[in-house]
Amino acid sequence: MNLTVIGTGYVGLVSGTCFAEMGNTVTCIDIDEKKITDLKEGIIPIYEPGLEAMVKRNVQNKTLHFSTKLSNHLEKCDIAFIAVGTPMGEDGSADLKYVIQVASEIGRCMTHPVIVVDKSTVPVGTADKVKKAIQDELDKRKVSIAFEVVSNPEFLKEGDAINDFMKPDRVVIGSNNEEATEKMRALYAPFFRSSMDRLITMDVRSAEMTKYVANAMLATKISFMNEIANICELVDADVNKVRIGIGSDSRIGYSFIYPGSGYGGSCFPKDVKALKKTAEEHGYKAELIKSVEDVNDRQKLVIAKKVIDRFGEDLKGKTFAIWGLAFKPETDDMREAPAIYTINELVKRGARINAYDPKAMEEAQHFYLKDLDNVFYFRSKYETLNNADAMILLTEWKEFRSPDFDELKTQLNQPVVFDGRNQYNDQLMTKRGFEYFQIGKSTK
Ligand code: UDX
Repeated sequence: MNLTVIGTGYVGLVSGTCFAEMGNTVTCIDIDEKKITDLKEGIIPIYEPGLEAMVKRNVQNKTLHFSTKLSNHLEKCDIAFIAVGTPMGEDGSADLKYVIQVASEIGRCMTHPVIVVDKSTVPVGTADKVKKAIQDELDKRKVSIAFEVVSNPEFLKEGDAINDFMKPDRVVIGSNNEEATEKMRALYAPFFRSSMDRLITMDVRSAEMTKYVANAMLATKISFMNEIANICELVDADVNKVRIGIGSDSRIGYSFIYPGSGYGGSCFPKDVKALKKTAEEHGYKAELIKSVEDVNDRQKLVIAKKVIDRFGEDLKGKTFAIWGLAFKPETDDMREAPAIYTINELVKRGARINAYDPKAMEEAQHFYLKDLDNVFYFRSKYETLNNADAMILLTEWKEFRSPDFDELKTQLNQPVVFDGRNQYNDQLMTKRGFEYFQIGKSTK
């Protein structure tokens, strides 16, 4: 099929590239000229394992194209995906201005019936707004074209996006038109070689809702577990054991019950807020969803609080080695990362930060921590330890899982470790001579 993907952010670039890999002809559109010039040369704006090689291969095979001009490509295309950003508006709702701008642009240059697909995460009712924006432009042009708007939310995880897209758990297609549904099924069929059961079709509004509910449910599991971790500390229980104890119940399961310093990223914080807002707009007070958010806001500061309890409110003259800045491993993304909150709290009290992250240091330096004077970046995890009073682990990158503990101990001024992702065994850490603080287990 001939596809157009509008917006070359995470979702758009991964989706477009994977569709091309599956044999479709894809043009990815973006208004950012520099980004498009770079992409044509195989320069990828984000770090995502496997993506660069796949983009290069498909550009070479001429199955993947990049352009800033939508009109040139829309006339040849069967399906147009809207994958532009839906940032959080000031009131917590998803800001649809980019989505609607693209819809209007589609309406201005559509010449034949195209299936328009909302791929961005958008609140319930957006497909109707997109439809209206396109129709308004067609009316202005006094042309009549029978187009359809379909919802096809994306569930990929950063860091494993290619795998998620090529071998999806499920694909959700929300469409109120049978012909459009069939075309979408045909597009996705090659991704389901053994069974099509996981290609789920439903009406547009339910599909729009499904994306928010999936993310809110996962965020709820995490906040629930973080709350339990905090209670465990108070009653002298070990959340690591409790986690295993409950996960073995297949109704609960092991996934997404790891306590930590809170969830971050581009999706959970934004989508939880937007779902709460949608409920409010319909006169419903979503108390549980609000609590999920409140617990997470508090959790992002848990490690800073432990550091302050140990070293005191005044951290002048203290240096902390931070291992991990990204909101999770295998990404350079720092959006809503607990590291931002932790580092700000410590710097505010006079601490110096020696930071290292395998991928996110540029993001940190140029955007997320750019206003902080007392943060220094190092090329390796061990270099951060020089003259540091404690090591603080905030992202569970593989290279942090089994460091040289002797080096860690000798390099630090004092052998103190704060672990925001419970990566180490506390008994072993104590045996090795560390004062070891983790989430959900008291340190006596
Ligand atoms: C998430 C959804 O998983 C994905 O389906 C959706 O499309 C976008 O949002 P992503 O934001 O890439 O994907 O990250 P994910 O791997 O889900 O992790 C989200 C956050 O939860 C991270 O900050 C992670 O550290 C945290 N987390 C995850 C926990 O704290 N505990 C867990 O047990 C699991």
